Amino acid sequence: MLLEVRDLHVEFRTRDGVAKAVNGVDYSVDEGETLAVLGESGSGKSVTAQAIMGILDTPPGKITGGEILFQGRDLLKLKEEERRKVRGAEMAMI
Ligand SMILES: Nc1ncnc2c1ncn2[C@@H]1O[C@H](COP(=O)(O)OP(=O)(O)O)[C@@H](O)[C@H]1O
Ligand SMILES: [Mg+2]
Repeated sequence: MLLEVRDLHVEFRTRDGVAKAVNGVDYSVDEGETLAVLGESGSGKSVTAQAIMGILDTPPGKITGGEILFQGRDLLKLKEEERRKVRGAEMAMI
């Protein structure tokens, strides 16, 4: 698999409380495959993509669980410097 998202959880901690934006998202994309994610406004599509890219607003956002495997590497365990090499060169977001 090119990309595997496993049981991803993202929260936003704001003055008004904790917003659980992403609650256990799983998906995988193979090389050459196109995946369309549909959902109502506010259901967490963009926040999931931001977590994959490593461009989540932290704080208030925080990845509280799960794994994001890109070519088998868990992106959440990479140092920011290594993450930066992947972003733009190997994955991008419009
Ligand atoms: N910076 C933020 N602070 C607080 N809540 C946020 C922030 N960004 C996104 N959210 C919340 O996360 C949830 C998912 O948003 P989002 O991923 O943008 O939805 P979608 O792209 O599916 O329309 C929404 O409830 C939204 O209000
Ligand atoms: Mg969106």
